[in-house]
Amino acid sequence: MSSLEKADKLHALREKAFAGGGEKKIEKQHEKGKLTARERIDLLLDDDSFEEFDMLVTHRSTSFGLDKKKIPGDGVVTGYGTIDGRQVYIFSHDFTVFGGSLSETFAEKILKIMDMAAMNGAPLIGLNDSGGARIQEGIESLAGYGKIFLKNVLYSGVIPQISAILGPCAGGAVYSPAITDFTIMVKDISYMFVTGPTVVKAVTGEDVTKDQLGGPGIHSKRSGVCSIVCDEEEEALLLIRKLISYMPQNNMEDPIRVSCTDPPDRKEMWLDEFVPDNPNKPYEMRTVIEAIVDNGEFLEIQRSFAPNIIIGFARMNGHSIGIVANQPSYLAGVLDNDASVKAARFVRFCDAFNIPVVTFVDVPGFMPGTAQEYGGIIRNGAKLLFAYAEATVPKITVITRKAYGGAYDVMSSKHIRADINYAWPTAEIAVMGPDGAVEIIFRRDIEEAEDPVARKKELVDQYRVKFANPYDAASRGYLDDVIIASNTRFRIIKALEMLAGKRQTIPPKKHGNIPL
Ligand code: HXC
Repeated sequence: MSSLEKADKLHALREKAFAGGGEKKIEKQHEKGKLTARERIDLLLDDDSFEEFDMLVTHRSTSFGLDKKKIPGDGVVTGYGTIDGRQVYIFSHDFTVFGGSLSETFAEKILKIMDMAAMNGAPLIGLNDSGGARIQEGIESLAGYGKIFLKNVLYSGVIPQISAILGPCAGGAVYSPAITDFTIMVKDISYMFVTGPTVVKAVTGEDVTKDQLGGPGIHSKRSGVCSIVCDEEEEALLLIRKLISYMPQNNMEDPIRVSCTDPPDRKEMWLDEFVPDNPNKPYEMRTVIEAIVDNGEFLEIQRSFAPNIIIGFARMNGHSIGIVANQPSYLAGVLDNDASVKAARFVRFCDAFNIPVVTFVDVPGFMPGTAQEYGGIIRNGAKLLFAYAEATVPKITVITRKAYGGAYDVMSSKHIRADINYAWPTAEIAVMGPDGAVEIIFRRDIEEAEDPVARKKELVDQYRVKFANPYDAASRGYLDDVIIASNTRFRIIKALEMLAGKRQTIPPKKHGNIPL
């Protein structure tokens, strides 16, 4: 064979790999409103930056006639490229090849780039569209998943790991994304379930559609598995580019600083009157966040899950920060099971990747009642407490209004190692709200009064004067300052600059035992 003929052979093999499952399967993929594995990579990465590995890998299975059906690449496209010039590693399931199902060799391809990503300290992005374990391969496929899960775990907190769910993901194909840091889904095409509707019907007799079982609506609102839902695949891929811009390449680096055109000392005078005088009147905490961060840009995560707490990324004077904020306009911003877990995981992500955490507090306390107690509010609230206490990144807290009871302690208080604690003049910091407090400590006094209603009002007013303000806490140094709301942006930026060199450790240990 001449050199030219040898080169032709390579071209032919490559073409076969590029064709994936063939024209018909690609058409079917498009008909379902889905892009192909390679189209997705093209949209996600910088132009011409993708370098592919293992395009010629084929499976080794001989069962069920698979030996006669080999497609170079074996259903997954893997390699590396750049996003805004920064290196990332990527795998993209090819649903046109055996439904993107995972074989032994498919798993080996993914494991190879996972190791490279960790060794070279760059994020890993998985574009998932898979029927799960390749059924014909049996245990080899299960072993493959097990090894991927192991690497997901070992590299958790070492490199950022991001998953997009761009098709039906079943069985093993959901546990790997679940371990990664962020999971993005797309309306009408993404599904995640451990077992599909057919198995559910067979085992439990329950009739359920794919959407009801594991569509983006369910995972973004109820299970909390999904970080962000997008309308289109293109939007999801662009979102990954944005998300990654807030992160460092790995846990040994700081996030990059972008140039900032928003003046650090920008004042928002209307903020001084923004918090309603009536403590029971809600307001939109997102408005506060957007007023303070660079150019009002806030990338919110898990927006529809536990809306009583807000989490997401923003920048202050060009530096990435993670934001955690109670949301007074939903359940008065109370801390419940879902809100505690949502915020705890986010704080841990920020801490793992050197992203300072800024916390805005307006919290009436933990949600009381049997539903919450039975659901484990003690265990779940403790997760948030644990996450904040353990975090060694710069932590800045601003109390805008209520900070009551245990929730005051938990929401990044001075007592659990927050670095800078500010409060607005509208802050109320106490063991509990005035109404509840006087009912307990002055019950007999009120019952025995000539006019119990008037007496209670008098006592509530006294309590409010004593505790419903920031000055008791400030007098003890539990607040570093009471700040003017309109100047919050400047004060946070100054504090972040001061904390830029922060070094703090936790006692040497194998790992803590967060109350999972
Ligand atoms: C082998 C598979 C496959 C699989 C799909 N295909 N899933 N091949 N192993 N797991 C093949 C189909 O045979 C078909 O091949 C092609 O992919 C497209 O599949 P369709 O069913 O035609 O597509 P669609 O109607 O879109 O349905 C997609 C689907 C469905 C919802 C994913 O295929 C499905 O339910 N698959 C099984 C899902 C599942 O239960 N997986 C769990 C595996 S166990 P042809 O040649 O006809 O085009 C597992 C355990 C790991 O993962 C646990 C670790 C913790």
